[in-house]
Amino acid sequence: MPSPNPRPPQDHRPGSKRFNGALVGLAVVLLVAVGFLTLRHYFGHGPAIPIEQTRPSVSGVGGPFEMIDQDGRAVTDASFRGKYMLVYFGYSFCPDVCPTSLSRNADALALIGRQADKIVPVFVSVDPERDTPERMKEYAAAFGPQFIGLTGTPEQVAAVAKAYRVYYAKSDQPNLPGGYAVDHSSLTYLMGPDGALVQVFRDQLTAEQLAEHLRKLVR
Ligand code: NI
Repeated sequence: MPSPNPRPPQDHRPGSKRFNGALVGLAVVLLVAVGFLTLRHYFGHGPAIPIEQTRPSVSGVGGPFEMIDQDGRAVTDASFRGKYMLVYFGYSFCPDVCPTSLSRNADALALIGRQADKIVPVFVSVDPERDTPERMKEYAAAFGPQFIGLTGTPEQVAAVAKAYRVYYAKSDQPNLPGGYAVDHSSLTYLMGPDGALVQVFRDQLTAEQLAEHLRKLVR
């Protein structure tokens, strides 16, 4: 008995050869896509370079600050617009981590040649009591003439540390002048010419690895 309604075209019906072929094709495309994304996730960024990629809209790192530079002048974040900032927080009496990280940053800048002209390396003190502008001038210059040293009042330091989500805290250390050390986080921040965070680098990166990132990120 003939069906009262005309059947749909053969090739578009579920169960037809063409329909099944399309399903298989779709599955293959999805599998390839998932496989590619998985491989990219694990290998795409290069496993040799551990790195935290952070978008400013997500992280909220950075923002306005007011500080005193190594020449005693008042500066703000806007003073650095148009240049990249390579920002590191620490203190001049730091016995180990700060000199190592700042030397690493200086070496990375030397490795990228003329591209480094677009980057201002900035050392921000988290020890306003001992890090006077005069002391910051002497200390920052030890890593290169282009290094800027920023300090300020305890309130200014607290505000910029908060903006960059930097942890710092005094701890007793009788061997150091003043009798204390300052524990602090040791990340380096690349801020763009617009003042927004571009990327955060851990202190485990070598100068060569940091240079490799800067080459790609700085335009
Ligand atoms: Ni330090």
